[in-house]
Formats: sequence, structure tokens, C-alpha cells
Amino acid sequence: MSSVLERPAHAGFVVEWRDGFRIGVAQVDAEHRHLFTLVKSLSMANVQDTLGELLDYVVTHFTNEQELMEASGFPDFRQHLALHEAFSAQVAEFLSSGSEWNEDRIQELRKFLNKWLVGHILTHDLRFGRWYMEQGRHAQAHPVTAARPKTGWFDRLLGRA
Ligand SMILES: [Fe+2]
Repeated sequence: MSSVLERPAHAGFVVEWRDGFRIGVAQVDAEHRHLFTLVKSLSMANVQDTLGELLDYVVTHFTNEQELMEASGFPDFRQHLALHEAFSAQVAEFLSSGSEWNEDRIQELRKFLNKWLVGHILTHDLRFGRWYMEQGRHAQAHPVTAARPKTGWFDRLLGRA
């Protein structure tokens, strides 16, 4: 069993962004990527500023993602909103625990944020991404826009071309 003392200084828990985290919705992916960058940059030297920026960006990101879900008619929108709210409550609870900042507490926060992000993205956001792309395919297959010239095999079959 390794103790805190045996752990090399700054050998923190950091998850780097990787393409495997993409859900296929460009705006959401870009925002997720930025979240990982902010979580990674948390340190004792900048904790107050970076944490403020990070929480601000979390709110922006959740708002954007929720708007996209609601506007596109994502059927699991309500459940997803509840997951974001539960996360916000967990972060608030952690921050209000009142301990002084030190390396261990920053590591603990970073670990929590990274784990939550990875789990949430790969399960729930990815589900949205797949659904969203599926809608796009339907939209392309059944365009709402007015008639385009029809010269496909179906028209030839019916003798229209
Ligand atoms: Fe989400």
C-alpha cells in the first residue's frame, strides 16, 4: 500500500482529452475539450482564478448543451438536465466543505471532475450525440425543403425520368 509520502510531488491524477471522448457534435466536443484543459490546469498557484473560470465555463457548457438538446427535441432531455444538476450539487458540496486548499484537495477535486466528465460524456453525452446524428440522417433522408430535381432510380423505375 503506498502512502501519500511515497507519492512523487505533482504526480497528479490528470486525464488528457482524447478523440475517443468525441460525441460527434462539434460544439459540444470543443467545449468538453476546453473543460479538460481547465481541469488539467488547476494548481495551488492559480486555484482561485482557475476554479472560478472552470465553474463559469461549466455553467456555459451545460446551458449550451441543454439548449441544443431541448431545441432538437432530445427525448431524454429532462433526465440529462437532472444529471447536470446533481453534478452541480456535488461540486457545491465539495467546495462548501470549507477545507483549506492544498495539493491533496486539488488532486481530489481534479480526480472527481475528470472521472465525472469521462463517465458522463461516454455514457450520457454520447447517447445524445448518437441520437442527434441519427436525426440528421433522417433529416437528410426526408428533407423538409421543397422538391429537388428527381432523377434517381426510383423516378426512372416509375418512368418519370
Ligand atoms: Fe451533459
